[in-house]
Amino acid sequence: MPVNFAHRGASGYCPENTMAAFTKALELGATGIETDVQMTADGRLVLIHDESVRRTTGFDALVKDLTFEELRKLDAGVWFSEEFAGETIPSLEELLALAKSANIIVNIELKNGLIPYPDLERKVIETVRAYGLSDQVVLSSFNHYSLAVCKQLAPDIDTGILYMEGLYRPWDYAATLGANALHPIKYAVLKEWVLEAAAAGIACNPFTVNAPDEMKRMLEAGVSGIITDYPDRLAALLKTLT
Ligand code: G3P
Ligand code: MG
Repeated sequence: MPVNFAHRGASGYCPENTMAAFTKALELGATGIETDVQMTADGRLVLIHDESVRRTTGFDALVKDLTFEELRKLDAGVWFSEEFAGETIPSLEELLALAKSANIIVNIELKNGLIPYPDLERKVIETVRAYGLSDQVVLSSFNHYSLAVCKQLAPDIDTGILYMEGLYRPWDYAATLGANALHPIKYAVLKEWVLEAAAAGIACNPFTVNAPDEMKRMLEAGVSGIITDYPDRLAALLKTLT
């Protein structure tokens, strides 16, 4: 059964990358959660998409310049709706604790395309290991050098290459990186190559697929997972297949 990855949690219904969004995703039938990790000034791993906290908290600063304590004082819910006032930017540990108890897959996207957080790969891997979740995690990134480092540090943890363009024979490229999965933008998915990738042992988890007809097209192409803001829509579709 393809993995139903809730993109930044159930971000269609809750403020993205908050515990409210992650918990809601589980309620709606997600079997995986996609999240974005960045690092604070004091080296803590936190779950937020942007390098800056401005869009989701209203405070104008970069994550890398705030301590964890400073960042935790910010409200990450109210921008979405008053109903979510008091939500904070979670730590990676908080999500991993939830994932362990709910037994779901976590796709941790390393957000080190613009800011080269020192030792991000090692810290993420150590945290995953501390929770005993090595076989329930996929590490992904648009920074493919970083994915090569992850594979070197932890050959047993799956990696997925994120990309926005139509790569030529992406399964061959994945193999050169030792990657286990392709995480393409949905437009780059073609049934022929999903099959070829699968034959080469490479999974395919496209993003961000929100419309049921698009989800259907991905499932018909044979993808191994779908990253969506609306895990309830995908759960309903998957039910019709069983
Ligand atoms: O991991 C899939 C997707 O999250 C990649 O794009 O910008 O939403 O992190 P973005
Ligand atoms: Mg992401």
